Amino acid sequence: MTKNEGKEIVNRLFQEHFGCISKSGSGVFFAPGRINLIGEHTDYNGGHVLPCAVSLGTYGLFQRRSDRKLRFYSGNEPGAGVIETSLDELQPDRRFGWAEYPKGVLWAMKEEGFPIETGFDMAIYGDLPGGAGLSSSASLEILTGFAVRGLFDLDISDIKLALLGQKAENEYCGVRSGIMDQFASALGRKDHAIFLNTADLSYQYVPIRLPGAKIVISNTNRKHKLADSVYNERRRECQEALDQLKKAVNIQNLCDLTPEEFEQHRGVIQDPVLKKRARHVVYENARTLEAAKALKKGNISRFGGLMNEAHESMRRDYEATGIELDTLQEEALKIPGVIGSRMTGAGFGGCTVSIAEDSSIDRFIQEVGDAYLKEIGYAADFYIAEIGSGPRRL
Ligand code: GLA
Repeated sequence: MTKNEGKEIVNRLFQEHFGCISKSGSGVFFAPGRINLIGEHTDYNGGHVLPCAVSLGTYGLFQRRSDRKLRFYSGNEPGAGVIETSLDELQPDRRFGWAEYPKGVLWAMKEEGFPIETGFDMAIYGDLPGGAGLSSSASLEILTGFAVRGLFDLDISDIKLALLGQKAENEYCGVRSGIMDQFASALGRKDHAIFLNTADLSYQYVPIRLPGAKIVISNTNRKHKLADSVYNERRRECQEALDQLKKAVNIQNLCDLTPEEFEQHRGVIQDPVLKKRARHVVYENARTLEAAKALKKGNISRFGGLMNEAHESMRRDYEATGIELDTLQEEALKIPGVIGSRMTGAGFGGCTVSIAEDSSIDRFIQEVGDAYLKEIGYAADFYIAEIGSGPRRL
């Protein structure tokens, strides 16, 4: 979908559900989703990640009101109709469905003392496949924060926008996610990955140069539900492993350990499952550091090899892939010209990202698609990733 099409859709939705659009106090905004190239489940362990914003995301028309009402409409969830609440009723309540994300961001802004005195109406439409692990929720959070910052002229940095989105997700929506998704959406840059150290939020942009190749996103179409999934359980397991390691070594986060240090001290972790979880995190962080180096040097084949190892570690040690993601990854690697492939995001369904030579892409989509349908019983979807920039006013 082009930016103009997105703009037209939210204009139409807004007029249909809220009436006319005034010139002042309104605006159309966009915030992207993301893929992560490598560094999975490291972001709540003080490690590194390497995500990029994609050109798909969420569009929204926002218009300020003079009272304290809030009204929400999503073209992706027409059945939910217009959802109405007010700035004085910002408590988590699942009955509000998708509107919990914008409500959560407003709650986080209020908690942090940002003055929002009047409400607004907002109509949104997104072209990210929902529940596919491409961070449609982070894109909605960043869209809300970015639009509210613009409409109410608030002094909030881009990093702070990401943190407010994460606070909403963690404390309002109940998913204890790390900072990666909101950071990638808020700070994405066209044709660059963000090499982010989640321990101190320092970051660098790394250009993605893939001569003669592209990133293919393959969607399992298995819906993953982050909130009630194994995500929070993995986080708890990492915390337990960290608590045990702290008895032997002075660290704040699992990712403070190099693989060598981990091998030296892993004996203090009794439970073999916790040991595997920690091993994934420590090695994944080391792989991410190496992958960023390889990308900077343009060594794409090394980068691809690290992606494959990362997938294997998510499968074996973190146990967060499943038959759908594993089938997509294994089948992708059978296609000549595929340089690397791995699951992206939280796992438990969602998407893989693969680097494939241009000449192999048709065959990739055909053969991986056929094998997936045969094995899983329903079809996968394929998209060529376009690395886009962060949020903007249209
Ligand atoms: C989800 C979370 C992120 C990150 C990934 C796994 O996308 O929102 O914070 O933990 O899973 O890397």
